[in-house]
Amino acid sequence: MQIVRQLNPLRNALAEFRTAGLKIGLVPTMGALHAGHMRLVEVAKERCDAVVASIFVNPTQFGEGEDLDAYPRQEAADAALLKAAGVELLWAPTADQVYPSGYATNVSVSGISDGLCGAARPGHFDGVATVVAKLFNQTRPDAAFFGEKDYQQLAVIRRMARDLDFTHEIVGVPTVRDPDGLALSSRNAYLTAEERGKAVALPQAMQEAAIAIASGKPVAATLADAKARLLGSGFHQVDYFELRDADTLALLHDFTKSARLLAAGHIGRTRLIDNIPVS
Ligand code: PAF
Repeated sequence: MQIVRQLNPLRNALAEFRTAGLKIGLVPTMGALHAGHMRLVEVAKERCDAVVASIFVNPTQFGEGEDLDAYPRQEAADAALLKAAGVELLWAPTADQVYPSGYATNVSVSGISDGLCGAARPGHFDGVATVVAKLFNQTRPDAAFFGEKDYQQLAVIRRMARDLDFTHEIVGVPTVRDPDGLALSSRNAYLTAEERGKAVALPQAMQEAAIAIASGKPVAATLADAKARLLGSGFHQVDYFELRDADTLALLHDFTKSARLLAAGHIGRTRLIDNIPVS
């Protein structure tokens, strides 16, 4: 596996892949890789001939007081995992290769970035859309792979790709979970053993709410019960627990076939998010 940090060698390596007629898959990450990321790589390997993974802890998607400095950085271990999984190239740019001196451009996807995590993390999705647009331009993949765990992020990226004429495929990969149902996340590393035990209340409350809503229980009361259950199980704040349309993320007050539950809550110093289809 080649590890590349500068744009010129990246372009040369990608040109060789293209000359060889290889279909290029991009797996963008911020490192601290877990089985969820490795599933993205696995799907990319199934669908493409050459997989490019990127690791860049993108400062513009972290708000003030968020965990940019504390965000886990373990490039050597990540690179070993990616190599073992058969990744052809690791794009680990230095900061100036993404944000050169004088950088002044922002990609902002209005509407779909508002509400949900956008409400609690102002500017977060601008940072995501900007860096992902840059990664798409830098690598010009045939397909790019993102986890459904960050469902609003995936919806923002799909909208941005349509709006800015990126024609490659955007593939959403289902969430990988621990055996008890907790969605894998780099931020789970922040949980103490006691908090980790309580965190399972999130997927449990979501499953129960999804079953209730699909079986015709009133949506508002079901969501209120689910929030109360989280607050009674060790979460000290619930940012949202909402029913949304899976494609547009429009708020739903009644069950439809494309409904999806999305939730975010705080346990200890960790903010957890999750989402599941309601069917
Ligand atoms: O999901 C992530 O790891 C990041 O938000 C992404 C898509 C790599 C952009 O920095």
